[in-house]
Amino acid sequence: MGVFEIGNAGSRDLAMMTGWAVDEGWNQGLSDRIPFAAADPHGFLVGRLDGEPVACVSAVRYGADYGFLGYYIVRPELRGQGYGMRMWRAAMERLEGRTVGLCGVFAQQDNYRKSGFQAAWDAVGFVGTPRPAGPLPDGVTIVDAGTLPFAELAAYDRRFFPAPRDAFLATWTTLPDRTTLAAVQDGRIRALGVIRPGSGPIRIGPLYADTPDLASALLRALGAAMPGEITVDVPEANADAIAVMEECGLRETGRMAWMYRGEAPDVDVPGFYGVTSCELG
Ligand SMILES: CC(C)(COP(=O)(O)OP(=O)(O)OC[C@H]1O[C@@H](n2cnc3c(N)ncnc32)[C@H](O)[C@@H]1OP(=O)(O)O)[C@@H](O)C(=O)NCCC(=O)NCCS
Repeated sequence: MGVFEIGNAGSRDLAMMTGWAVDEGWNQGLSDRIPFAAADPHGFLVGRLDGEPVACVSAVRYGADYGFLGYYIVRPELRGQGYGMRMWRAAMERLEGRTVGLCGVFAQQDNYRKSGFQAAWDAVGFVGTPRPAGPLPDGVTIVDAGTLPFAELAAYDRRFFPAPRDAFLATWTTLPDRTTLAAVQDGRIRALGVIRPGSGPIRIGPLYADTPDLASALLRALGAAMPGEITVDVPEANADAIAVMEECGLRETGRMAWMYRGEAPDVDVPGFYGVTSCELG
């Protein structure tokens, strides 16, 4: 047994963690680590065995009351020796006193339950090439969200996310490899979505909309902005969202469990069509 130490990740470690996640078969947005670091620069932990990185976890703090756990990975050859639990404890310590969310693979759900988490809903993965857009609902225009006041965009996000996350959003929505679109009606945001290249299919997230018609219009507009096969993780708690994905021509590929420890946050489920990411919520 060597010496195992847990420390903060640097930006190279973040790139390494993304690579490990891809090795696990998780689709990663190609530049996501940049906004991830902006969300909480101290929220990424690496476990080193005799100085060599072998494990990671993220424990990102949002505001005073919320946190999200992700990137829970031990390198395959070292599993089953207690390193995972040590990473997990360090992560939970960092998020002590907060409601904690995670998006878990089914194989780990029982463990998370033992650690005090409860499933809220399934995040259903949909994939496919969206059907072309039809006419927009009356009075609705779709605009580059960068032309809108950031405060309005952040306020709209806040309806669907449990805490403010301005530093994260400012980067997530504006990186050059991605497109952020909003549906606007009477000068107000009625839908919002981001599309970005991934290690697998192109990813959409988040996707929010006031109505199913607006969700469908925005998803198709995002698809047209970055043509190809796309994927989106949809909260099953919103039946309209599942129906919109099917109507847009996408098919289900798999499921993860969205879980919380502590009181489940009160977000606007009927307008919630796609999660931002499985790693940071
Ligand atoms: C999940 C993972 C990080 C666990 O790491 P590990 O080093 O193998 O775990 P440990 O050796 O510390 O586990 C010790 C015990 O605690 C359990 N355990 C692990 N994490 C736990 C948790 N968060 N809560 C409760 N129990 C847990 C293990 O099942 C094991 O139980 P057992 O002895 O009865 O089999 C590792 O298996 C892995 O990298 N898996 C692939 C990536 C993945 O799926 N990550 C989770 C994504 S949601």
